[in-house]
Amino acid sequence: MQTISNIAPVLRTVLGGGALTYSEETGPCDLNLSAIPDDPTAMADAVRSSMGSRTDIHTIGVAGVGTFTRHSPVQSGRLADKTAIVTGAAQGFGLGIAEAMLAEGAWVVIADLNITLAQEIAKTLCARFGAGRAVAVRVDVSDETSVAAMIEETARMLGGLDILVSNAGVLKAGSLEEMDVESFAFVTRVNYQGYFLCTKYASQMMKRQHAADPDRMYDIIQVNSKSGLEGSNKNFAYAGGKFGGIGLTQSFALELIPYGIKVNAVCPGNLLDGPLWSDPEKGLFVQYLHAGKVPGAKTVDDVRRYYEAKVPMGRGCEVQDVARAIFYLIEQQYETGQALPVTGGQVMLR
Ligand SMILES: NC(=O)c1ccc[n+]([C@@H]2O[C@H](COP(=O)([O-])OP(=O)(O)OC[C@H]3O[C@@H](n4cnc5c(N)ncnc54)[C@H](O)[C@@H]3O)[C@@H](O)[C@H]2O)c1
Repeated sequence: MQTISNIAPVLRTVLGGGALTYSEETGPCDLNLSAIPDDPTAMADAVRSSMGSRTDIHTIGVAGVGTFTRHSPVQSGRLADKTAIVTGAAQGFGLGIAEAMLAEGAWVVIADLNITLAQEIAKTLCARFGAGRAVAVRVDVSDETSVAAMIEETARMLGGLDILVSNAGVLKAGSLEEMDVESFAFVTRVNYQGYFLCTKYASQMMKRQHAADPDRMYDIIQVNSKSGLEGSNKNFAYAGGKFGGIGLTQSFALELIPYGIKVNAVCPGNLLDGPLWSDPEKGLFVQYLHAGKVPGAKTVDDVRRYYEAKVPMGRGCEVQDVARAIFYLIEQQYETGQALPVTGGQVMLR
């Protein structure tokens, strides 16, 4: 049976990209398709031959399925008319990355476990960047059914996917004495298994787009960490999963490049102004102060200064630093399987 996530990415690719929205309703359309093959290459050929030389097609009706409507194209920006999913985009790095992508012309799915916040954020972003430019989807990246549903929802709302930013992540620090199996498994499921699941389902959609037009390229980018490049004391559940994420990145890159899909990671330093660090109740500054992790620290500011002093550039990582690295990886047409540090010089590759 034809699913929306089978059909929409092929139609969208044949139309040249942009955003395409599905509706069950049928009515008069610029182009009506009856039986179309399941194979994406054959489907693309059938659509192209029905279109002929017409370029004025905005609505396509597919018999027994519904109607696909093109949004007006976004004309300018480094990511003009690309579609993206950013997981964990309701706050922190993910939110900043989503905002930066919207500012550069992308259509963005704000995918998060916290759907209430994601919906509020998407509303605010649409008010700033235009109706439909940001859409909220609930996802638990550690759950296969939920990830599959996120991809299906993306097909319905945006028609396909050019960029996946696998950003959702959690951190539970703890020594070998403290860490229990449940906490270790939780961190691993979200940070490591979640990246696998998002790549598994996003790449299926990207492969169909590639079959419809082999000249286009797509990106999967994991927001990893400097803790994926060097060990992190009493934080091994997080660091281990992030190191593993680089193994996944390299392996996915080898498997997916035949389909025009680049896979890279960015490895940020500490986002000292974000909620993970600065939350006054459960942020890492407070946690580390109480745990006595920073010798001699008496206040939260002492802990912060200790972490700033570790960075040759003297400050924490900012969202814009990570967004710049992501744009570089997308624009770079001759790199895959890389882990790009964004650490102000704190971690240097050997
Ligand atoms: N904050 C830092 O200093 C820092 C440094 C390096 C790397 N990172 C990485 O950046 C990414 C984002 O971190 P952050 O600091 O912005 O985190 P954050 O806690 O501020 O935000 C994480 C978001 O992910 C969502 N989320 C959590 N579990 C989820 C799940 N199972 N499915 C879907 N969404 C889920 C949360 O609801 C939240 O909106 C993570 O992968 C993290 O490892 C963070």
